[in-house]
Amino acid sequence: MNTAFLKSYQTLREVYQNRAFSSVALNRSLNVCKNQDKALVTKIVYGVLDNDGKLNYVISRFVRKMPKGDALLILKMGAYCLAELSIPVYAVVNDFAELAKITEDKRIVGFVNATLKSIAPQIKNFDDYPDDPIQNLALSRSYPEWAVRKLVKDYGFDVARQIVSYDPPRLTTVRLHGIAPAEFARRFATEVQPTIFDDAVFVKGVPHDGSVCTAQSLSSMAIARICAAITPRQGKFLDCCAAPGGKSVYFKQLSPAAEATACDVHPHRVELIQSYARRMDVQLATYCRDMTQPASEWNGAFDTVLCDVPCSGFGVLDTRPDIKLFRENKDISELMKLQYAILNNCCEFVKAGGSLVYSTCTLFDNENGQNVRKFLKNHSDFDYGRIILPQIAAADGKGFYQFLPHADGMQGFYVAVLTRRGS
Ligand SMILES: C[S@@+](CC[C@H](N)C(=O)[O-])C[C@H]1O[C@@H](n2cnc3c(N)ncnc32)[C@H](O)[C@@H]1O
Repeated sequence: MNTAFLKSYQTLREVYQNRAFSSVALNRSLNVCKNQDKALVTKIVYGVLDNDGKLNYVISRFVRKMPKGDALLILKMGAYCLAELSIPVYAVVNDFAELAKITEDKRIVGFVNATLKSIAPQIKNFDDYPDDPIQNLALSRSYPEWAVRKLVKDYGFDVARQIVSYDPPRLTTVRLHGIAPAEFARRFATEVQPTIFDDAVFVKGVPHDGSVCTAQSLSSMAIARICAAITPRQGKFLDCCAAPGGKSVYFKQLSPAAEATACDVHPHRVELIQSYARRMDVQLATYCRDMTQPASEWNGAFDTVLCDVPCSGFGVLDTRPDIKLFRENKDISELMKLQYAILNNCCEFVKAGGSLVYSTCTLFDNENGQNVRKFLKNHSDFDYGRIILPQIAAADGKGFYQFLPHADGMQGFYVAVLTRRGS
């Protein structure tokens, strides 16, 4: 039995059948995986999830009745490996037929064998997609059609095509704390590449977590840096949707004299903030609160209030390709209501002259600009402030900014800085 294929199958089953987060399921698997299998398991897991729509479509063209469950998963894995790996066809077909034998329904063995044999000659050059430009883009790039339509509406077809077609490099961003990149490379015996921030490097493979380093995307770091740049040295900072604590902890490291408060609605997620703060040796006040609800003791109390609201996540598909599988168009209006309720409530906590920072990790105007424009229309005491982020010239000095992976080389976050009038 090919152990890398087996581990990939078990990991993908967790995602498809139990809806586990891809990054969480993969990390769990890699912890118990043979060293020599890790790179291949990572490639197959991310590759299959990232290409799910396309693999479904290709398979549908080679079968009379679309399979489900294990049979479909094994065919997707087999088709992906036939397309992307330089392993002989007979070996791929045999290994996946072997894998089919461990499933509950042994009848699928022959079906998997025969279907992969018929897919093999055509998979590398498969290009038989519909002529309609949106359907073509959606199927060939495995992006939900409803999401492609939204991007076309928000950005026009050309930019939408670039967003959907972008293949990000598979590098992990590691944020360093109290250790220089060269020393980090020596200590962890790893190659590092510089990033736009002097306290972060790109590494290949699994992140090295510890008290001196942590995996954090450049976009997430950018939001914390924006908050730190606008908060007075001894000011008060409130992170309303803080778990697992990435931005709060980094904020506190950038601004040690400031007072930082981090909230989340879920008790188990507040514990994540606390354990992350402990690991990084940072002092945060934490609260379990529903931030759509008033908290009059906090009215006008904070210099900076960050609303890093729950969102559809289409800016972080590089680490969460499973979002493309399970997120639906109808979720967006529910998310918009929650996002606006948090923003509308938490603006009360900003002191006169202070700032409200609104951020998401998604690309759709519905959840980003539309919410902010509505908020400004309803709150005449707020106006756009200024982002301070000299490392990203395109964002620096703007009132809001949409990071785009293909253009900015980082995850697709949105951020707006809104200032409350008065002094
Ligand atoms: C995008 S995540 C925050 C990520 C975090 N800022 C970080 O950098 O690590 C959104 C968070 O909002 C929390 N959340 C959802 N509804 C909330 C509510 N009504 N009040 C407070 N937090 C909420 C979720 O539990 C989730 O942890």
